[in-house]
Amino acid sequence: MRKRSLSGIKPTGIPHLGNYLGMIRPAIDLQESYDAFYFVADFHALTSVKDPEALRKSVRHITAYFLAFGLDASRAAFFRQSDIPEVCELTWLLSCVTHMGLLERAHSYKAAKDQGIEKEINHGVFTYPVLMAADILIYDSDVVPVGSDQLQHLEMTRDMAQKFNAAFKGEYLKLPEARIREGLATVPGLDGRKMSKSYDNIIEPLLAPKQLRKQVMLVQTDSKTLEDVKDPSSCNVFALYKLFASADELSQMHEDYVGGGYGYGHAKQALFEKMDAYFAPYRERFEAIRDDDDYLESVLHQGELRVRPIVEEVMDRVRRASGVGKLKTRP
Ligand code: ADP
Ligand code: TRP
Repeated sequence: MRKRSLSGIKPTGIPHLGNYLGMIRPAIDLQESYDAFYFVADFHALTSVKDPEALRKSVRHITAYFLAFGLDASRAAFFRQSDIPEVCELTWLLSCVTHMGLLERAHSYKAAKDQGIEKEINHGVFTYPVLMAADILIYDSDVVPVGSDQLQHLEMTRDMAQKFNAAFKGEYLKLPEARIREGLATVPGLDGRKMSKSYDNIIEPLLAPKQLRKQVMLVQTDSKTLEDVKDPSSCNVFALYKLFASADELSQMHEDYVGGGYGYGHAKQALFEKMDAYFAPYRERFEAIRDDDDYLESVLHQGELRVRPIVEEVMDRVRRASGVGKLKTRP
C-alpha cells in the first residue's frame, strides 16, 4: 500500500516564496509516489481572521495556487479542513490526554507570552497544536511535508498520539514523520529574516513581471558601491538566486561578486529574470483558474469525498477506544 503524505496551509494571505519552496513544491512533488492529502486550514485561520467572505475567498485562492503549481486533483485529494468537522471531535479526544505543560511550551504561545499579551490571545491560539495534531492523525498520515518551523508541531503530534495510545492501551493512532525539504533551511525574506507574512518581507511568486521585478528590487543589501568587492555568503540577493540558478550560473555570480565592478542592481536583475522565467507558466495557469469558483469548489468537494472513508475508519477506531459514541456493528 502507498504511504500517505498529508499537509495543510492556512488561508491567511497570498502564498509567498518561503511557502512555495518550503511546503507547496515538496508536497506537490510527493503526489507522484504517495497517496497525497492536502488541505486548506480554515479552522486554523479563524484564530486571526474574522471576515467570513475573505476567508472563503482565500480558501479558493489557495486552491487555485496549488492547482496552478501542478497539484493533480485526479490523483491527490485537495480539500477544506472544515469540511471534515470530525477533526474538532478528535481535537477534544486528544485534548483530554494532553498536558497544559506541553502546550505552554509551544513557540507561538511562548512568543505571545513574551510580548505580554498572554491574557489577550484566544483559546484557539493556545490549542492550535492539538487541532493540528488531529488534522494529521485523522488521516493515518505517514509523512508531513512542512517547513522546519513546523517541526515542534510534529513532535507534539507524535507525543499526543503516543499519549492517546497509552491511555487506551492500543495502537489506535499512527505516528507521523515530518518531511523537511533536503538542503532547504529557511527561505530568507526581503530583509534577510525568515520570509513570513508576519514580517511583511515577502516575495509573491505569481505576481505580474513588472510587480515581481519591483519586489525583487526591494531585497535589502549592504551599501557597497558598484566597484566594491562583495561577499556572496552574507548577501540576501545571492541567497535567493541560489534557490533558482544552476551550479554554473551560481559560480558565475560568485565570481562577479568577488571580482568587483558588479552591482547589486545587476544581481537583482539576474534574480528577477530567473524567477520570472521559472514562474511564468504557473502564473498563466493561475490567471486562467483564479476566478473560476465553481471549478475550485468542485475540486474541494471531490477532495472531501476522497478522504471521508479514511476519516470514518479512524474516528470509529478512536470512538471505540475511548468509549464515546454509540457502538456500531462492524460491517
Ligand atoms: P508564514 O510564516 O508566512 O505565516 P505559514 O506559517 O503559513 O507562513 O507557513 C506555511 C508553510 O510554509 C509551513 O509549512 C511553513 O513551514 C512553510 N514556510 C513558511 N515560511 C517559510 C520560509 N521562509 N522558508 C521555508 N518554509 C517556510
Ligand atoms: N500549522 C501549519 C502552518 O502554520 C498549518 C497546518 C495546519 C498544518 N494543520 C496542519 C500543516 C497539518 C501540516 C499538517 O503552516
